[in-house]
Amino acid sequence: MAVLPIRLYPDPVLRVRCPEVVEFDSELAKLVDNMIETMHVAPGIGLAAPQIGVEKRLAVVDLSAGDDPEQLWVLVNPHIGETSGSWVEDEGCLSIPDFTEKVPRPHEIEVTAQSVTGEPLQVSATGWLARAICHEVDHLEGVLFVDHLSGLRRERARRALKRLR
Ligand code: NI
Repeated sequence: MAVLPIRLYPDPVLRVRCPEVVEFDSELAKLVDNMIETMHVAPGIGLAAPQIGVEKRLAVVDLSAGDDPEQLWVLVNPHIGETSGSWVEDEGCLSIPDFTEKVPRPHEIEVTAQSVTGEPLQVSATGWLARAICHEVDHLEGVLFVDHLSGLRRERARRALKRLR
């Protein structure tokens, strides 16, 4: 396994709509292993492929940050279906260091995805897991958490992003 450099805002790869994964081969398995290690070392609770410069619809999420293998989710070609509820909580991103802001997200989501070997997955997620998956799926669409902000929060984000540029 290898720890890969994480792309930072304003790297244009963070704005790419990533195409679906079509080949479930050993190269994909290796990429996933490297993403998991990179996320854990960062440390972070989620990482999307474009954050390491790879334009593929693929993300990993682990709310335990490496403590509990049961909390590790590998989501290939994830899509969010039904959502319900809404809550606001602080969010950050490995690609936007040293900045957090309150972001609205659904409380419950239904997710369809595939495993690293191409098996279909159905995930019902609530709370922080739902939040983390929404954040990562956004990355795969070229969307960053700061895009969800409005008013004063958006203004604070604009100043933080200016520092990164
Ligand atoms: Ni992020």
